[in-house]
Amino acid sequence: MRTMKNRSFLTAVTSSLALLLLVQGCKHEPPEAPLDPGIGGGDDPWVEEPTPCDPNTIYFQQQVLPILISNCAVPGCHNTAANDNDEIQITSYETLMGSGIVQDGDLWEAVNDNDPDKIMPRPPQSPLTAEQIALIAQWIQQGAQNNSCESAVCDTLNVTYAGTIRPMVQQRCQGCHSGATPQGGLDFSTWGNLNLVATDGRLAGAIQHQATFTAMPPSGPMLSDCRIAQFLEWIDQGAPNN
Ligand code: HEC
Repeated sequence: MRTMKNRSFLTAVTSSLALLLLVQGCKHEPPEAPLDPGIGGGDDPWVEEPTPCDPNTIYFQQQVLPILISNCAVPGCHNTAANDNDEIQITSYETLMGSGIVQDGDLWEAVNDNDPDKIMPRPPQSPLTAEQIALIAQWIQQGAQNNSCESAVCDTLNVTYAGTIRPMVQQRCQGCHSGATPQGGLDFSTWGNLNLVATDGRLAGAIQHQATFTAMPPSGPMLSDCRIAQFLEWIDQGAPNN
């Protein structure tokens, strides 16, 4: 049974990737999916040393975990194993792989389901975008490793809302801070609310985990030093809509 399920899961991953490549008009064949059944086991350290970012590799810590934290580790859902969620906690590589949902294909099925009672995240939260789903597929195909990378440069000089801040907020914050019931009553899908918390000091306090603020993101890794420096630079400029 398990083998069957794995096989159909891999077929689903492969065909969805093939579709994506087809849509993009790319002529490359999708790579074989080397899903190691021993993922997460053994004595391997959970976190590998950061390496320089390779554009052909999907990195769990920088690209996949932020999507999962922002969309699945929402308070009351997969932020702890204690909620009514089959004890599935999605706040780190360790908890994710420990739950077995990557290995048995359940994660893949959940984000691709058409049934509103089964799809993850559940409405009224927005579903993952096609890009986010494709990224998760690629990460699984590349072996679902706990990999991490460091970009060689951290540009804190040319920080703009549109070029730097908005993409970062979309990636790390909007899963919780958008939609019909945004967390903390703060919808960051437009500039206005972000400018508000930038101006009243809550943004700087929250991302630096200062004592009198609620640490943001509330679970998973803190923003990198580079990301925090970029936020602070933008706040220094007066948090403009540029
Ligand atoms: C997993 C869900 C989640 C994610 C991801 C998340 N937040 Fe929050 N955020 C919350 C919740 C819940 C609150 C309300 C906390 C409270 O009232 O104590 C909140 C409150 C805040 C506040 C107000 C904090 C305060 O002390 O008043 C700020 C500012 C904030 N978030 C910024 C961010 C930013 C910036 C990001 C992305 C880097 C982010 N959040 C990511 C759930 C999240």
